[in-house]
Amino acid sequence: MSTVNANLTYNYKVVRQFAIMTVVWGIVGMSLGVLIAAQLVWPSLNLDLPFTHFGRIRPLHTNAVIFGFGGSALFATSYYVVQRTCQARLISDGLAAFTFWGWQAIILSAAITLPLGLTSSKEYAELEWPIDIAITIVWVIYALVFFGTITKRSTPHIYVANWFYGAFIITVAALHIGNNLALPATAFKSYSAYAGVTDAMMQWWYGHNAVGFFLTAGFLGMMYYFVPKQANRPVYSYRLSIVHFWALIATYVWAGGHHLHYSALPDWAQTAGMVMSLILLAPSWGGMINGMMTLSGAWHKLRTDPILRFLVVSLSFYGMSTFEGPMMAIKTVNALSHNTDWTIGHVHSGALGWVAMISIGAMYHLIPKLWGVQAMFSTNLINVHFWLATVGTVLYIVAMWVNGIMQGLMWRAVNQDGTLTYSFVEALEASYPGYFVRFIGGAIFLSGMLIMAYNVYMTIRQKEAVAQDNAATQPA
Ligand code: HEM
Ligand code: HEM
Repeated sequence: MSTVNANLTYNYKVVRQFAIMTVVWGIVGMSLGVLIAAQLVWPSLNLDLPFTHFGRIRPLHTNAVIFGFGGSALFATSYYVVQRTCQARLISDGLAAFTFWGWQAIILSAAITLPLGLTSSKEYAELEWPIDIAITIVWVIYALVFFGTITKRSTPHIYVANWFYGAFIITVAALHIGNNLALPATAFKSYSAYAGVTDAMMQWWYGHNAVGFFLTAGFLGMMYYFVPKQANRPVYSYRLSIVHFWALIATYVWAGGHHLHYSALPDWAQTAGMVMSLILLAPSWGGMINGMMTLSGAWHKLRTDPILRFLVVSLSFYGMSTFEGPMMAIKTVNALSHNTDWTIGHVHSGALGWVAMISIGAMYHLIPKLWGVQAMFSTNLINVHFWLATVGTVLYIVAMWVNGIMQGLMWRAVNQDGTLTYSFVEALEASYPGYFVRFIGGAIFLSGMLIMAYNVYMTIRQKEAVAQDNAATQPA
């Protein structure tokens, strides 16, 4: 039996701070995405400067959206969910504040070092060794705060959302340390502890599990709290949530080999990666189905509640990208898709459709509660945002699918005499319309984020206005 402590107050300050930074990094990271999308249409936008060149801004985009935007959303929601579901305040306000300022400092240092060209050159792990050490420290403190709060919970069991957040925190620590082991040469240059194909294998063990744990497990934690809350329904099946949790974390860690098909990685390891990826469809869909079915009896709410729409559409994109991923992991399919824009389309159906949409939905649920107001300033604006995000995502991914399949087919086309039918530049030229459509889709998605920023600002101001009114009517 659990009892609610009436005097209990939660630490919402750190949640509010991370929630604001989710919107801020979302706008920064997606603006950079729109910039690099524009550079691929109009190369002169590289401005002929090393700092603004595509090669340097691209990793800044990925770091800002994954770690700045996604990371802040994960910190905000995990701190909120762990307190609410454990009915316990975070174990330490000081340590929680440290994780906030530490994480922001890390993203800022990425924003400085990456345009300067300081990089370890490992994708999604580009930051150089001093920043890597800072990440390790902040992450360990995050784990302390999160698991410490769980240990002092006043509820008898640990709600499933916390299992997912917990797996995300532990695995990201192991991945980060494992992949970034390096020998520092100077203050901003290091050499990987691994060489050749071992280095590639470590990198994609990391890279794929960054997807599996940073971009998936953590966001499933978010899904397990915010979908039932917003729909006002219990989770469809608690048993399914536990079965797919163990299946998901046991399978993900083996699938990284699919990033290295037809490479120097031993053939058996590539095949193991492919098979594990195919198996991964089942636990991924277990989560998607569990989320969707939670809406049983509440589907009518979709007509009036745009926040629920964000959450449900994000689950559809999750289902789509986790069907597409296993298909792309089949070697013969990968022979067509690898290195083409198909991969980029797959990435963004996960990143925009799943990660961004679920985070946006969670923030719209969270922000009024954090500032103690009834609802967001404007539900209509949430609705407008929903449509901009959906149309933007669809334009982006459809353009990339068309480009990707076309590129794959053009690259492999051969004439009867064995020569290539198309030169690389011809395939690039044919991709131009797709790049333009992607730029438009990205700009539409970004405009939705700007509307969100306005709506959040007005919601917070509304709260301040109420507080001022109350103060004015109080007797002196
Ligand atoms: C307005 C929204 C966005 C736009 C316009 C955009 C645009 C782009 C562009 C142009 C690229 C480079 C593609 C290439 O090299 O051919 C890229 C890469 C990438 N973006 Fe985005 N992006 C957006 C949002 C996001 C979000 C929200 C995330 C993650 C949560 C994300 C994650 C990534 C990743 C992981 C890559 C690297 C993909 C790979 O190497 O295969 N993007 N993005
Ligand atoms: C069952 C789940 C999934 C499987 C089996 C899977 C499989 C794959 C495969 C085969 C590739 C292409 C590798 C290549 O040719 O280089 C890929 C790329 C990628 N996927 Fe997935 N995917 C899954 C889900 C997701 C989700 C949900 C997201 C995002 C939230 C995501 C993000 C990415 C990223 C960022 C890349 C590009 C990596 C890079 O080359 O930089 N994937 N995935």
